[in-house]
Amino acid sequence: MKRRNFIKKASATSLGIVAVSSTLMSFDEKSEDKKAVILSTLKPIRPLVIATWNTPLAVETAAKILQNGGSALDAVEQGCIIEEANEKNQTVGKGGLPDRDGDVTLDACIMDNKGDYGSVLGVKNITHVISLARKVMEDTPHVMLVGEGAEKFAYEKGFKKENLLTESSKKAWENWKIKSEYKPIINIENHDTIGMLAIDKKGSISGACTTSGLAFKMAGRIGDSPIIGGGLFVDNEIGGASATGLGEEVLKTVGSFLIVELMRQGKSPQEACEEAIGRIVNKPGKDFKNFQVGYIAVNKQGETGAYSIHEWFSYNLFKDGENKNIKSDYFNKA
Ligand code: GLY
Repeated sequence: MKRRNFIKKASATSLGIVAVSSTLMSFDEKSEDKKAVILSTLKPIRPLVIATWNTPLAVETAAKILQNGGSALDAVEQGCIIEEANEKNQTVGKGGLPDRDGDVTLDACIMDNKGDYGSVLGVKNITHVISLARKVMEDTPHVMLVGEGAEKFAYEKGFKKENLLTESSKKAWENWKIKSEYKPIINIENHDTIGMLAIDKKGSISGACTTSGLAFKMAGRIGDSPIIGGGLFVDNEIGGASATGLGEEVLKTVGSFLIVELMRQGKSPQEACEEAIGRIVNKPGKDFKNFQVGYIAVNKQGETGAYSIHEWFSYNLFKDGENKNIKSDYFNKA
């Protein structure tokens, strides 16, 4: 039997469900055709949650929702809420490091399996901006609300006003002001923007992303996190991707959209993340030594990928009933 026909007849069990992409790489015939055949016979991994950085509680919260039959959309929202409420995390939600004027401003976005999207940008005084982004998606005719408009909308929707600047973030800002040197910090406390992707039991994919943005940024600065295709992109037919790190570099390469499109063209999530990092570091004259970008991705089958410029990016992955923190592979091994 020709190898091509064998693949068509093979069952999911005999092929197994792991290492789909590496299996495909060894084929010498038309790989796209074969990939379509194999993917259609394999049992997808679900439910599944993947999130940037060491975020066990956030991922566990999302996973429980999925295991109980909840939607990927509810899972990513509730997962992100955990980190937004965690005052010790100085890169997300309450307790986030402020801009150079001492104001904590938050960005967030959410995207569902229907391709709908909502985001809020530069929001003060509201902790759970991921839920606010969801309200924008579900309760308004718009996709983005910024600053005072977003805050006004939050109060209309019953969100409470909170002081987001904790004592420890205030101290960090006062120390920063002594020199006022603006420099992105690589792997801030091995933490940064939380990007989360989930596949529910029905196979629907959703994603969410929430951040306080760069520490000591200029007032009004917005990064990649709330921008569709930058910090997050989901296409329920293909998969999803999310970013962390220096948002300016993610935006210049439309990183998350790029990863999903590369997966659409047949790349594995890992290959797609690596190529997206390559688009940043291979720009002529790009000095990537002083900034970090990390990506996570998942495809419809539940294959995952992660890659960063520098060492120490990690991600939490829940699959097959286990929630693990995994160190990402990275580009700069010099
Ligand atoms: N990735 C977060 C930011 O640049 O704002």
